[in-house]
Amino acid sequence: MNHIVVTGGCGFIGSNFIRLMLETYPELSITNIDSLTYAGNLANLADIQESKRYQFQKGDICDRPFVDSILGKGNVDAIVHFAAESHVDRSILDSTPFVTTNVNGTLTLLDSCRSHETPRYVQVSTDEVYGSLGDEGFFTEETPLAPNSPYSASKAAADMLVRSYVHTFDFPAVITRCSNNYGAYQFPEKLLPLFISNARNDQSLPVYGTGENVRDWIHVLDHCRGIDAALRQGKVGEVYNFGGRTEMTNIALTRLLLKLLDKPDSLIKYVTDRPGHDQRYAIDCAKAESELNWSPQISFEQGLQETIDWYISNEEWIKNIQSGDYMTYYDQQYGGRLA
Ligand code: NAD
Ligand code: TYD
Repeated sequence: MNHIVVTGGCGFIGSNFIRLMLETYPELSITNIDSLTYAGNLANLADIQESKRYQFQKGDICDRPFVDSILGKGNVDAIVHFAAESHVDRSILDSTPFVTTNVNGTLTLLDSCRSHETPRYVQVSTDEVYGSLGDEGFFTEETPLAPNSPYSASKAAADMLVRSYVHTFDFPAVITRCSNNYGAYQFPEKLLPLFISNARNDQSLPVYGTGENVRDWIHVLDHCRGIDAALRQGKVGEVYNFGGRTEMTNIALTRLLLKLLDKPDSLIKYVTDRPGHDQRYAIDCAKAESELNWSPQISFEQGLQETIDWYISNEEWIKNIQSGDYMTYYDQQYGGRLA
């Protein structure tokens, strides 16, 4: 594999993936297509922007002529599709961009790949398409899709389109579904960077509902290694789940963060629950372990400490984001709840 196209490479996971791939494969070159929404940040790849093996093309995945101009060059061995609207709370405020990018954008890519005979396609999806678990059990690749938020519904719709293209057109796609990622370069609307930033500034940490909802945390680089394994070894039409085997309630994680940051529990503020809040996510990743020879390598203890250290040493990165439209969103979103 010599040249791949990545969509959404200026976001959290895409930027980590591009950096890791360029480091891992000295012969590989990458074209990154990203429309730079509020979540896309060129600073996430500032260290590699001069690389001769990296090219950035600003554009929207819903724009067929634009996508055709990239995939039509004939030198693309695979496309790895990350670009999405990715935040559940935003999808509750306004679902439209989620359907536009996550569903229509995916369809545009599928059609462009088909017409240019792109040999390989990876759909980066989420465990949230499976819905919510009770106290017992795990999501497997056979778990029926039962999305509960507009975000997860749009991701499930995209997965269904990919599945239908495999079935109908022998389209060479694999789908990956992963649990909650953490690590460097995550946009500070998501739990971990938001709470690290708030705690360091002695601001409240808004815990939704009782804080007893459970998430399974995986380091972003473990996820990226899984996507790479699915890209290279995954069987067409198959789904691969990735998880970190680190289930934790939100309140336990919040307390742990405060302890590691040496801040008081009094910063915890219980706020109105997220509507339709999924209770528990937990992943069975036995299939990826046996068929892709993949397993998570980074312990939560080590990964979390490194992540905290990263946000502390990259304060400018977060400050630059917070001076943008994020603070307006944050005030609208949490102002009322915190009162
Ligand atoms: P992110 O919000 O940090 O980044 C999304 C990127 O996509 C941004 O750079 C944005 O500019 C770009 N983008 C959005 N709409 C676009 C469009 N129409 N055209 C071109 N580019 C566009 O998201 P993330 O957390 O890095 O997630 C990446 C993918 O991984 C998503 O598909 C998400 O559903 C999936 N995923 C995320 C997690 C997680 O924990 N963050 C877990 C599992 C799966
Ligand atoms: P989030 O990072 O938004 O990921 P997702 O909703 O995709 O799992 O949230 C992780 C968990 O943290 C989720 O259960 C919602 C909760 N949460 C809070 O309690 N407070 C917050 O301010 C945020 C952003 C999330």
